[in-house]
Amino acid sequence: MKFKVFKYDTVNSTNMIGHNLAKNGHNNFIVLSNTQTDGKGRLNRSWVSEKGGLYLSIVLDISKFEAIEHSNFIASLSVLTTLKEFSSAFNNSDGISYSIKWPNDILLNNCKICGILSELNIKENYIIIGIGVNLNNSLENIKNDYKAISLNQMFENTEKQQIDKNLFLTRLLSNFNNYLNMNSEDLINNYKLNSETLNKNVRIVLNDKELTGKVVNIDFNGLYLDTNSDLGIKLIEVGDCIHLR
Ligand code: BTN
Repeated sequence: MKFKVFKYDTVNSTNMIGHNLAKNGHNNFIVLSNTQTDGKGRLNRSWVSEKGGLYLSIVLDISKFEAIEHSNFIASLSVLTTLKEFSSAFNNSDGISYSIKWPNDILLNNCKICGILSELNIKENYIIIGIGVNLNNSLENIKNDYKAISLNQMFENTEKQQIDKNLFLTRLLSNFNNYLNMNSEDLINNYKLNSETLNKNVRIVLNDKELTGKVVNIDFNGLYLDTNSDLGIKLIEVGDCIHLR
């Protein structure tokens, strides 16, 4: 799929610009910005978006894209694959491991390098997949309860390398197109192979509710948590997932 590109230096949020453009009749496009002043994260959090990071939203017309429930899987695998390609191009993939924390955080050695926020507008027939990747950005102002990392930190002892954002984007969109054409079974199997969450003991938090258990499966509907209690195996569709030992 070919995407039109809307490029900005700074916006409030590429997702918000995506909503405006979609409502004005555009479809199948991407919104890119060097920084965001009001970057949105999952579960009403904010996403600190300083210069050097990649901030984009992919907006798809869902009347021609049946498998909406695939979108988070397609997006997370595209970012993961692109990161792996960059690491091996730097001949520096030793000791680096990439994985996906459910639903769609990308981790580098267990630190968060990418977050994804999908927003669906069924009425107007579009989905926005917002992707933030820490490439060259400083993480000083990120105050979260998880550890974050930027890709260039992995290379700073060797070549003080700046990651080429345009090349990263080109590879990301190419991988996105590949995963878009992948059948459901291969897609979920690929996801599970790279999942940090599958078979882990986790705590799921949503609003005031918490559940702990072991993750026994993940599919397009969500995560299956064996609660080891009368609740049995619970399907979790949304929530914060915290890995336990
Ligand atoms: C998360 O909480 O992990 C999801 C973060 C998603 C951030 C990206 S950056 C580009 C796009 N625009 C936004 O406002 N948010 C997403």
